[in-house]
Amino acid sequence: MSLKKQALDILALNDRGTYTIPTQGLYPHQWNWDSVFIALGIATYDSDRAWTEILSLLEGQWPDGMIPSIIFRSDEPGYFPGPDRWGDTPGAIASTGVSQPPVLATIVRQLTVGDQQRRKDVFDQMFAWHAWFHDKRGIDGLITNVHPWETGRDNCPEWDIGLDRMDVAPDLAPYTRQDNKHSDPRFRPTELQYDKYISIVQFGESIGWDQRRLTDEGPFLMGDPNLHFILLRANRDLLAMAKDIGKPPTVIAQIEAWIEAGLKAADRLWNPELEAFTAIDVRSGTFSPGFSNCSGLCFYADAGSVEQRSKTLAHLDRINADVNYMLPSWDPNDDAFEPQRYWCGPLWAQMNYLTSMGLREQGYAAHAMELRCGLIDAIEKSGFWECFDPMTGEGCVSRNFSWTAAIWLAWDNETQQQGAA
Ligand code: GLC
Repeated sequence: MSLKKQALDILALNDRGTYTIPTQGLYPHQWNWDSVFIALGIATYDSDRAWTEILSLLEGQWPDGMIPSIIFRSDEPGYFPGPDRWGDTPGAIASTGVSQPPVLATIVRQLTVGDQQRRKDVFDQMFAWHAWFHDKRGIDGLITNVHPWETGRDNCPEWDIGLDRMDVAPDLAPYTRQDNKHSDPRFRPTELQYDKYISIVQFGESIGWDQRRLTDEGPFLMGDPNLHFILLRANRDLLAMAKDIGKPPTVIAQIEAWIEAGLKAADRLWNPELEAFTAIDVRSGTFSPGFSNCSGLCFYADAGSVEQRSKTLAHLDRINADVNYMLPSWDPNDDAFEPQRYWCGPLWAQMNYLTSMGLREQGYAAHAMELRCGLIDAIEKSGFWECFDPMTGEGCVSRNFSWTAAIWLAWDNETQQQGAA
């Protein structure tokens, strides 16, 4: 069967009518940035259904503007932590109490070229979400995260510094993990990491999901290049849409101020020892020790000095020489590199997509192509997995994965269009 047919079949298999689950078994709900990438893939063959995916995600928005990482439209016993564990959340639909990387405005801009009405329909909700990030997670312009899950890169070794500094809650209510029942535990986070993840959830629930308090008083607080650069880029796209649809000067000025603050604060993520953008533990000022697959997002955000960008390219070259399939989620030079353990090494479709997009836009076509080929070669070898071993191209964790299929379709569509031009 052709790869295109396989990709289409996966999206059909995971379709739940108005939204699409990431994969059967492990992830039976609607995930935030998954849905956005999925919409990008679906848009290659059904723009109305793609738009429905976006609208269904927006249905989960909280009154304070947050769009949560997971929207629970059902209570699936095979998923933990489900709605019970997150407790009362203020959105119209039960959800988690943390967010996820805001790729939404960037993809909406791509999906609505020439369709001003659709941009208008969702603009205010996107604006409110960005405002939420700045108000609730911003610290002097730096976008922080209160839970590794909020970054979308769950158990990346970037978070070890922040997790090491926190304790498991002494009164942690007992729980049973479900993720290990759906996939090989060797690929998944450890027990201690999981205890800490659930301890943060318990803290958030205990303060009624007061999001500013969660940032200021919660057990974990780090700055993340993924969230920071993705939001900075999303603000640029939001600004372009605001101008396009004639939003008032106050709205335009607000977005411009966010961009300026985001550009300035990017320097706080520059790790002077490694000479790369990395996560930072905000309270201790300690930087994470390795180059991850979001360190190169400075190009996507159009941020960083000439020097920072050239050092970033040098890291990409170094890593390219060490692996067979770009771009590993963690630095192969670091002891914590594990080529098959989730965010400790495997390459991920959506990260290759974003990093490659930024490199291409900034004129680094060859580097962009390495990332594109890394993913496509892994898919050709192994199929549409959640992530892939960067040394062997073998698929890891879950198969029939929606965003891997969606990104393949988006790139395939781009190639066809370029061929036709
Ligand atoms: C994992 C990933 C996260 C993703 C989710 C659903 O938790 O780390 O980024 O959104 O799975 O695919």
